[in-house]
Amino acid sequence: MQTFITGLLAAQVTFASAYQLAHEYSGKSFFDGWNFFDGYDYDQSGDAMYLGQSAATSANLAYVDSSSGHAIVKVDNATDVPWNDKRNSVEISTQDFYGVGSVFVADFAHLPYGCSVWPAFWTRGKVWPDQGEIDIIETVNLMGYNQMALHTTSGCSHTTPANQVGSSGETNCNATSGSGCTVAEKKANSFGADFATAGGGVFATQFDESGIYIWFWSRADVPSTISASNTTIDPSTWGAPSAAYPSSSCAIDTYFGAQQLVLDINLCGQWANSTYSETCGSGDCYLNSVINAGSPTYDTAYFEIAYLRVFAADNATVVSPSGTTTGSGTKASGGASATAASGSSSGAMALLVNPATLLWGSAAALLLTYLAGN
Ligand SMILES: *[C@@H]1O[C@H](CO)[C@@H](O)[C@H](O)[C@H]1NC(C)=O
Ligand SMILES: *[C@@H]1O[C@H](CO)[C@@H](O)[C@H](O)[C@H]1NC(C)=O
Ligand SMILES: *[C@@H]1O[C@H](CO)[C@@H](O)[C@H](O)[C@H]1NC(C)=O
Ligand SMILES: *[C@@H]1O[C@H](CO)[C@@H](O)[C@H](O)[C@H]1NC(C)=O
Ligand SMILES: *[C@@H]1O[C@H](CO)[C@@H](O)[C@H](O)[C@H]1NC(C)=O
Repeated sequence: MQTFITGLLAAQVTFASAYQLAHEYSGKSFFDGWNFFDGYDYDQSGDAMYLGQSAATSANLAYVDSSSGHAIVKVDNATDVPWNDKRNSVEISTQDFYGVGSVFVADFAHLPYGCSVWPAFWTRGKVWPDQGEIDIIETVNLMGYNQMALHTTSGCSHTTPANQVGSSGETNCNATSGSGCTVAEKKANSFGADFATAGGGVFATQFDESGIYIWFWSRADVPSTISASNTTIDPSTWGAPSAAYPSSSCAIDTYFGAQQLVLDINLCGQWANSTYSETCGSGDCYLNSVINAGSPTYDTAYFEIAYLRVFAADNATVVSPSGTTTGSGTKASGGASATAASGSSSGAMALLVNPATLLWGSAAALLLTYLAGN
């Protein structure tokens, strides 16, 4: 009996210190738990028209490939687009928001590329830029590498630690400065045809109060601790990150709220249009690429996703539209049941944690603080 109890305690200590799987988006159910942005995104002024879920599904722009089990998110390459029209594409964001203390691991077999193509895998808080943005993958046209960035309100800057693998560019993270604080990947095969030929790879992001850290591994270099583990993860074994934004010059708790994950493929727009000639020759981005036949220009403009996994430390919060707010470990579920037990107002609790019925801002921040502290 004594041994049994000791064993249990030891197991609990291990459990409490690890990041536990909070949500996996993969396989047949990949598209459960996402919102499809429906319409034109004026903020990014591109030449993509984003389709809602049913239109994107029937146009085969968002589906799960039955042979690989991988999710595909793509630009329309089957339509002849007449001059002055936009080309159909997809932008999806998770319904859940993941707080500080989360780790996002994304395994891609293919990333969208091609002239005019501007893909991104990124995260954002509920209020932009107040609650921050993390650009994990963002590239344009036929660029040969991935570029990472943070976008925040004024006052956050990037101090490059000595062990960062990537090469820092702009150091002011102020969203209104344009690019945000950028880091260019220096490892090979982080984007484009080279990424696909190498069999894809894995991007991992640790969203921690000590800083934000992004790793990239080409397929052959993916650590076995990542490929072998579906339930827990330990970033402390991953070595030097490609991008590291320590909180010493950007207090993560201050500049970032809980984040939702976003995947989108824009066309032309500010970045891809202004740098079009660098990799795609002379001519106009829209006239040369977007209009007329979609193939072959857009044949490579797709994400192929093996999985997106969100891991969370015990102290992290997950805010779901279904009205459940939990951590991955014992702490937050304890907090939730404690709340339910202490008050009979379960209706009020559901209202508090349901983003659909809640005006985000101070009430949500208070709730997150309350849950994090419990
Ligand atoms: C951030 O951008 C705003 C708007 O352009 C500007 O007023 C502010 O001075 C900038 N802050 C910093 C630290 O660059
Ligand atoms: C992880 O999940 C994959 C896909 O479901 C499965 O094939 C594999 O066996 C799992 N690995 C572990 C260590 O559970
Ligand atoms: C695209 O870039 C070209 C070349 O820099 C420029 O002439 C054109 O005005 C830009 N188009 C848009 C819509 O910004
Ligand atoms: C679109 O691209 C895919 C490859 O991504 C290709 O198999 C398909 O034939 C293309 N569609 C058309 C209509 O050319
Ligand atoms: C939450 O847990 C993580 C991982 O154990 C740790 O790095 C971080 O400092 C913790 N944050 C808080 C606010 O306790």
